This record gives sequence, structure tokens and C-alpha cells, in this order.
Amino acid sequence: MKFTLDTTPVTDRETACLVIGAFDDAPLQGSAASIDRAAGGALQELIKSGDVNTDWKETTLLHGIGGVKAKRILVIGCGEPDKFTSVRFDAVCASAGAFLRDHTTTSAHVCLHEMEVSGTTEHWRLRQAAVALEKANYRYTATKKPKQDDRQPLTEASFNASEELQAALTEASGMARGYLRAMELGNLPPNICNPAYLAETAQQIANDYKNVTLEVLDEEQMTELGMWALLAVGRGSQQGSKLIVLSYRGADEKSRPTVLVGKGITFDSGGLSLKPGPNMEQMKFDMGGAASVIGAFEACADMQLPINVICIVAAAENMPGGNSYRPGDVLTSMSGKTIEVLNTDAEGRLVLCDALTYGQRFNPAALIDVATLTGAAVIALGHHASIVMSKHDDLADELISAGESAVDRGWRLPLWDDYQVQLKSAFADMKNVGGMPAGSITAGCFLSRFTEDQRWAHIDCAGSTWVWGGDKGSTGRPAGLLTQFLIDRV
Ligand code: BES
Ligand code: MN
Ligand code: ZN
Repeated sequence: MKFTLDTTPVTDRETACLVIGAFDDAPLQGSAASIDRAAGGALQELIKSGDVNTDWKETTLLHGIGGVKAKRILVIGCGEPDKFTSVRFDAVCASAGAFLRDHTTTSAHVCLHEMEVSGTTEHWRLRQAAVALEKANYRYTATKKPKQDDRQPLTEASFNASEELQAALTEASGMARGYLRAMELGNLPPNICNPAYLAETAQQIANDYKNVTLEVLDEEQMTELGMWALLAVGRGSQQGSKLIVLSYRGADEKSRPTVLVGKGITFDSGGLSLKPGPNMEQMKFDMGGAASVIGAFEACADMQLPINVICIVAAAENMPGGNSYRPGDVLTSMSGKTIEVLNTDAEGRLVLCDALTYGQRFNPAALIDVATLTGAAVIALGHHASIVMSKHDDLADELISAGESAVDRGWRLPLWDDYQVQLKSAFADMKNVGGMPAGSITAGCFLSRFTEDQRWAHIDCAGSTWVWGGDKGSTGRPAGLLTQFLIDRV
């Protein structure tokens, strides 16, 4: 989508659609007030009569409003002014985006960032509005062509703001690119989006940006490194496992990189510890962590942030087969630590432990893994937040505040050593499952054993990365949180 800034007085702006917000029982603000004045109070009248609904997220399309050059005016309800938080603002923008996506108009002039939200800047509101329009505009078309109708996606949005806010649009384009990349990778079926496809996608990104390089380790190279935990997971599959390593150089060589590690299980059948049939198709989203780190990495390259970033994807398919790893197997990880497998469905931590060990060779300033690691994450926080775990309070705080700022929220759970006993094994240094209590935390504790001297955090996005049930698909989360985190590193 093309974004521009345009400070033409809103009543003179020739556009297919002006987009404004209106609160319940409050005077119209900014552009909405100007339009109302030009229209002789018609807008306020329509609100009063109930023809324009100002309830939060409601949309009303108006035609033939006098005194303005715009063909139409789209009014988005903002609800009660004192309840208008950043989260509510974001939903208002999403609502506008969904409406415009499904309407015949292909361009619009947007004034939503004028709506006051306490604790936010105009830069932030403009960025969020632009990102929301892009996200709403996304349609999955790779294996299903849209039916021909007269609804058209938005191709152009201008915002009523001055050139000083150009940086907000640059950020928005980057962040949206990251989200859309993550959404598309998540939505692609597992017979297309396999480990090799993830590597090809990484190659495309490396081709697109001059300061991005790629290295892809195949099974032979991983064998050399002793990545037996990662390799075990992919053994039952016909698809070769891959370790995908993207490097972005935006700063001096001496500047320590942020290293992002993503779980890229392109399909999680559970392996020999086979998952139940119902909903198994949703396990194509088990590369949601990988998708979001690739997305955030691409966003960073798109914005050319002056930092160094490494993105590592542990890509494998977890399948039952004659060569599958088994419950009872003891694996030696790249770190040398041994792991007793009690359940082949706890595969994410196995691919991640080796990828996290590998990531340490880059001397990271921060090491962050992102994974759809546990069903228990959904029990803990539902779909509203990703779980953040870290022994470093400052790093956890940075991630959580990045999530708040991107409206892609995270929430912290503890990583206390008290939970470590649940991983005790009679036959190895640890087992790969910690039992029923605190399933997300014990998964985090497992990973903590491979990141001991690191400034490390773990994000479990099992609840946030796709919309469960139905056919809504990937949310791209937590690409927004991660992108914001990278922006904040500058
Ligand atoms: N990919 C799943 C986690 C998952 C399950 C995410 C359902 C979203 C929805 C992961 O590999 C897994 O299977 N985890 C097991 C761990 C258990 C065997 C200790 C789980 O959560 O049940
Ligand atoms: Mn699993
Ligand atoms: Zn999994």
C-alpha cells in the first residue's frame, strides 16, 4: 500500500473516502469538527439522531455530505472518550481497515491519528493506523484465488499530517512488512511451507537487501556440529531439517547483535507420541515463532535500523516414521547435555536448545527465542498475549513494553529454579517434559539450561500467533512486539 502525508485542508481534500473518528457524547475533534462546520452541523446532527453510531469500532459510511470535496466519509465510533486506550485505538484502526478492504474504494484519506489517546504521541498513532490498514488489507491468495467481485483492497492511503511525521510511515511500512511476511508464512499449508521453503524465503530476503547475508546448514553440517537434539526431531520426516541463519549488518562490526531464534516446526504431528486427529491441521502454525522472527528481521532490514541482528530458524517437520526418534531415546545436544525423550511431541524445546547453543557463537547482546512451545501457554493467557520469560528483569521489561507499544502484548511468567526439579531424569541430564503443572514454565526452564550465561529471554506465542479454530489464520504475532523491540534498540 502506498502511504503519503497530505495537509490539504480536510474539507478541500479530493478523495474517495475521508476516514474520521467520533466519540460518544463529546464534541467532534480536529478534522471531524472542520467537516461538521463546513457541512453546517450535519455530522453532529447525524450522530445525535443515531444515524451515525459512535459505539466503539462501529462504522458508518456517509454520502453526499455538503461542504467537502470527498466523495464519502467513513466515521468510526471510538466509544467513551475516557475509556479510549491505545488498545482501543488500535481496534478502531483495524475496524477502519476491515471496512475499507471490503469496500469498492481503493484509496482513502485518514484522520484517525488525530484522536487523542492518553500516553501516546501523534507519531505512534499514525504508525499504528498505517500498520492496521496494511494488516486489514492482507488476503491469503497463494492457494485460493479471491472470487471476482467489486470489492477492492486499499492501494493508497494518505494521512492528514505534515512531513515531520514521515518517520512514522517508514516505521509503519517496515512493521507491516514484518507482520505480513509472518502471516503469509503461517498461513501457507505444510506441504508448501516446509523447512526448504523457509530457507528459500530467507534467501529471497537476503537477495532483497544488500546488508543481509544467509547461511543454511543442512543435516550433514548439523551432524558435524553435534546437533543431535534438533536432528532427532526431523528424523521421521522426508523433509530435511535446516538451520537457517540470516545476518543483518546495520552497525559496526564491533556492535554485538541481537540474536532472534525461532521455532520452525513446519508441521507438528507429535511424532510417535501422535497428536489426536481433531485440529491437527492447526499444527501447520507451529512455525509461528520462526515466521515472526523472520518477519521482524525483514522489518529491521526494510527500515535499515543501525543495529546488528541475527535471525536463526530451527526448521524441521515432526513426523512419525520408521526412522523417527522414540520415547525413551537419550539425545546428546550440541551443548553436550543429554536429554531423555519422554514425549516426542515436546519437540520444540529440542530444536531450540541446539539453535540457542549455536546462537551463542555470535556473542549476542540479547538472545531471544520465540516459539509456539506449549499448549499450556493458551491455558495461561489465552489468545491475548504471548508469554515472556527471562531471568533478566530489564530484558523482560523491554520486551513487555515493546509489546505494549506495538499493541502485540506479552506478559511475564517466572523462571524460578523451584520448577527445575520437574525436569529430573534417571537416565540423562534432563527429560524433555516437566509434567502437568506449569507446562509453559518448565519448557522455559528446559531452555534456560542451554542459555546459562546469556542475556536470554523466551517468548511462547502458542496463544497469540494464530486465531484458533475457524479459518481466520495467522496473526503474524509477535512480529510487532519483536519489531518494536528492535526499533527500541537504536
Ligand atoms: N506445538 C506444540 C504446542 C502447542 C500445542 C501449541 C497446541 C499450540 C497448540 C508443542 O510442540 C507441543 O506439542 N507441546 C506439548 C508439550 C507436552 C508434550 C509436554 C503440549 O503443549 O502439549
Ligand atoms: Mn509438539
Ligand atoms: Zn510443536
